[in-house]
Amino acid sequence: MLSGQFSVISLVNELWQFRQEQTIRKWRKKMKKLVLIMLLLAFVGVSVATAADVVVYENSKGNITFDHKAHQEKLGGDCSKCHQGEPAKIEVNKDYGHNVCKACHKDMNGPTKCNDCHKK
Ligand code: HEC
Ligand code: HEC
Ligand code: HEC
Repeated sequence: MLSGQFSVISLVNELWQFRQEQTIRKWRKKMKKLVLIMLLLAFVGVSVATAADVVVYENSKGNITFDHKAHQEKLGGDCSKCHQGEPAKIEVNKDYGHNVCKACHKDMNGPTKCNDCHKK
C-alpha cells in the first residue's frame, strides 16, 4: 500500500520532470532558430549598407576604398558617368581601376598617384 502510493508519486514526479525537459528542449530549439534568424538579418542589413556606400577592394599593392556614395554626390547624382543604362554591378579589376577610374580622375582632378588609391 505504502510502496504503491510511493510509486504513483514518483511516476507523477517523473512525468512532470519529463514535461519540463521537453519544454526546455522546445525552447532551446526556438531560441536557436530565433538567434539564427537574427544573425541572418544582421548580416543582410550590414552587407546591403556597405555594398551601396563603400566598397573595399583588397589588394596586394594596398587596399583600394571606393566610396560609392561620395562619388554619386560629387558627380551630382549622375549615374550615367559610370553606369550604362540601369545601374547594376560593375566588375572592378586592375584594368577597370587603371583605365576607367583613373581616366576620370585625370579629367576631373581626382587622385591619380598609386598611393592615392592603394592604401597600406
Ligand atoms: C564614379 C562611378 C559611379 C557612379 C557615379 C555611380 N556608380 Fe554605382 N557603381 C560603381 C561601381 C564601381 C560599382 C561596383 C562596386 C562593386 O565593386 O561592388 C557600382 C555598383 C552599383 C550597383 C550595384 C551594387 C551591388 O553591389 O550589386 C548599383 C545598384 C549602383 N551602383 C547604382 C548606382 C546609382 C543609382 C548611381 C547614381 C545615383 C550610381 N550607382 C552612380 C560606380 C559608380
Ligand atoms: C566619372 C568620374 C570618376 C570615376 C569613374 C571614378 N572616380 Fe574616384 N573620384 C572622382 C572625383 C571627382 C573625386 C574627388 C576629387 C576631389 O573632390 O578631391 C574622386 C575621388 C576618389 C578618391 C579619393 C577619396 C575620396 O573619396 O574623395 C578615391 C580613393 C577614388 N576616387 C577611387 C576611385 C575608384 C577606385 C574608382 C573606380 C572603381 C573611381 N574612383 C572612379 C571621380 C571619379
Ligand atoms: C584610381 C585608383 C588607382 C590608382 C591611381 C592606381 N591603382 Fe592600382 N588598382 C586599382 C584598382 C581598382 C585595382 C583592382 C583591384 C582589384 O582587382 O581588387 C588595382 C590593381 C592593381 C594591381 C594588381 C594587384 C593585384 O593584387 O591584383 C597592381 C599591381 C596595381 N594596381 C598597382 C598600381 C600602381 C603601381 C599604381 C601607380 C602607378 C596604381 N596601381 C595606381 C586602382 C588604382
